[in-house]
Amino acid sequence: MRKTSALAVMLFLGFLLASCEHESEQVNGTTKVCFPSEVLPPIKSNCAMSGCHTGSGELLALNTYNDILKIVTPGKPSKSKLHDVLTANPNSEKFMPPNSSGLAKKYIDYISLWILQGAKDLDTSNVTFAANVQPIIDTYCRSCHSGAEPSGGINLIDYTSIKECVESGRLLGSIEHLTDYSPMPKNKDKLCDCNIAEIIKWINNGMPNN
Ligand code: HEC
Repeated sequence: MRKTSALAVMLFLGFLLASCEHESEQVNGTTKVCFPSEVLPPIKSNCAMSGCHTGSGELLALNTYNDILKIVTPGKPSKSKLHDVLTANPNSEKFMPPNSSGLAKKYIDYISLWILQGAKDLDTSNVTFAANVQPIIDTYCRSCHSGAEPSGGINLIDYTSIKECVESGRLLGSIEHLTDYSPMPKNKDKLCDCNIAEIIKWINNGMPNN
């Protein structure tokens, strides 16, 4: 009897762990949470709407990075008012947005992780090929654009091939989903604003092999 219940507890814990891991994978993707594409849009559409946190009335504004930072303690979701009101008991007064079922779990997870990662805004001041560009291409492009028969005849495997693709003009057009270009990554979500901004910054820096 004892053994059975111990086993049940272990199975249950295992299940919990597995589901947490799954959640964090979904949130985490491979890179840092991107403030302009993953944190700001849900806050703008659920909090900074007319009559609420636009800054025009008495309520505090939640329109910009600096506004939002005022209710966040970087690195500490549990000490952040933003996190507190979003995860409060839905029947309590502090729960936000009021009279709603709350923000989708996906967004709350993004926000928690963003706070945990230091609540940073997009910063492209230290972009390098090795730390930024190559990992993005490896994660989102390489599976198709490598090997004996790379998709579209385009290899994206190293500095030289990636630089060549940028110089042809096709790379930016495809990741920015401009007309006349095939949108990339093919059949997947557009890259987040942070990844696109990092690639553009590296291109504008003259594509150094750094
Ligand atoms: C699932 C496979 C797949 C992934 C992932 C993928 N591509 Fe492609 N890519 C293709 C295929 C197939 C083509 C050929 C054109 C088409 O079918 O749309 C192509 C074409 C291209 C082209 C030429 C587009 C044009 O209009 O001339 C570029 C540039 C490109 N890919 C860049 C990328 C970049 C950068 C990424 C990552 C952000 C990426 N691809 C991810 C499959 C993929």
